[in-house]
Amino acid sequence: MFSSMTSSAVKGIAVAVGLPLALLSAPVFAGEGGNWKDGAEVYAKICAYCHDAGVGPVIKGRQLPPEYISLVVRQGLRAMPAFRSSFIDDKALQALGEYISKSPAPTVKP
Ligand code: HEC
Repeated sequence: MFSSMTSSAVKGIAVAVGLPLALLSAPVFAGEGGNWKDGAEVYAKICAYCHDAGVGPVIKGRQLPPEYISLVVRQGLRAMPAFRSSFIDDKALQALGEYISKSPAPTVKP
């Protein structure tokens, strides 16, 4: 009886340890590398977190060249982190650059 309790306790610990580890290895943001719908989705789920919140400068409505946007995203820029192709694949990055470049400036919220 005691031994069966011990083994279920061990299983409980394995579940308790395994679950947070599985969560940690998942991407921090929603969406997975190579699995983005379009540039707007990437922007809304990643870039807007800083660039629509005043953490980073406004990048919409400035006709920034998509090549420049791609470069900054891959290399990072001072306070801005770099994003690797395992997270934002080349195709999504290209779509993202075009989306930002063509987007109008955000309307200022009160
Ligand atoms: C963690 C916050 C953060 C996230 C997320 C972020 N950025 Fe930035 N970004 C910054 C900051 C801060 C700067 C300003 C860096 C500086 O000049 O020191 C910046 C600068 C930039 C610039 C240069 C702007 C200029 O005026 O030349 C571009 C382009 C840019 N980010 C694009 C993006 C894109 C595209 C994404 C989404 C993939 C993104 N950023 C996600 C924080 C962020």
